[in-house]
Amino acid sequence: EKGGYEHFMLKEINEQPTAVKTTITPRITDSMPDFSAEGFDAAKLSSYNKIYIVACGTAMHAGMVGKYVIEKLARIPVIVDIASEFRYRDPLIDKGDLVILISQSGETADTKAALELAKLNGADTLAIVNVKGSSIARAADMVVYTHAGPEISVASTKAYMVQISVMYLLAFELAYGTGRISKEQCEKYTKELQNIPSVIKEAIGLEKDCQFIASKLLNADSLLYIGRGLDYASSMEGSLKLKEISYIHSESYAAGELKHGTISLITENMPVIAVVTQKDLEEKTISNIKEVKARGAMVILVCGEDVVVEDKVADYIIRLPKAEQMLMPMVAAVPLQLIAYYTAVLKGNDVDKPRNLAKSVTVE
Ligand code: F6R
Repeated sequence: EKGGYEHFMLKEINEQPTAVKTTITPRITDSMPDFSAEGFDAAKLSSYNKIYIVACGTAMHAGMVGKYVIEKLARIPVIVDIASEFRYRDPLIDKGDLVILISQSGETADTKAALELAKLNGADTLAIVNVKGSSIARAADMVVYTHAGPEISVASTKAYMVQISVMYLLAFELAYGTGRISKEQCEKYTKELQNIPSVIKEAIGLEKDCQFIASKLLNADSLLYIGRGLDYASSMEGSLKLKEISYIHSESYAAGELKHGTISLITENMPVIAVVTQKDLEEKTISNIKEVKARGAMVILVCGEDVVVEDKVADYIIRLPKAEQMLMPMVAAVPLQLIAYYTAVLKGNDVDKPRNLAKSVTVE
């Protein structure tokens, strides 16, 4: 049932190109996003005053990517919130708001409670869910099913990837609907997204390099992941994945925040994984990398194929295959997953069933 793979996690990482293709294809017509099968009212969708994206864990990280792209393209304010915080905070939800819930299982207790709270406050709700007929899917006003297929590994990989792919399509739809991007621009982005499955496949080809990097991380007690903007979102997910299955502590930091305290942790015993895929932020993050390097950190750089890296800035470099820059979180996710995976494998951990965790968190 693992299809020849040693673990479900590795199988599911390899299923990502197909999962994305299967998820986006039914929502694209003539190179334009098309949610008519979901019954979305395009005019209404573009009319919300603000959007909340509420989820837990990895699904929340997919929401972080969603926030960046929706705000950038559609210029609608987006607030990303952890479901267990949102539900107890008396959040400022209004009638004219949209609350998007993201959940693989569709059964996460806190996410479900957040959905009920949103409805109670008169907001419209949209669930992005993988499991058909699950509680969250049934309770929401609108549903977009991701088609990742069953995800067995407790550590989420393909479900995250398809959640992001839906976030992009929604962002394109919203941006076009609000008149912020032209039809041509929207078609261009949509085509770039359709090209992503093949780029993900290429990124999976970095497996051996990731295995080698894992061998360098095995004995670390703690790691730092850094990035800016979309790369910060990617690094949050990379860090969670590593913690979850390798049991090595790690934290993700917005690269520019390091100097406000955290940099004091840096020694030669604290490896740093830096993600650099966004052109406009490249120089800034590279300068943060130099700061940690100067303090002895071993630096692993996961970067775009054309990022200029001077000698001795990084100890190891993972060059990502090329894609539209805004879509790079879908590419960067792959080596981060593989690094976490191989670190856990080399440590002899139960990769698919990490300690203390359950696949679906139905308790509060
Ligand atoms: C991490 C992971 C969890 C889930 C979270 C939400 O790899 O899988 O962080 O993402 O528990 O679960 P769902 O998406 O089922 O609501």
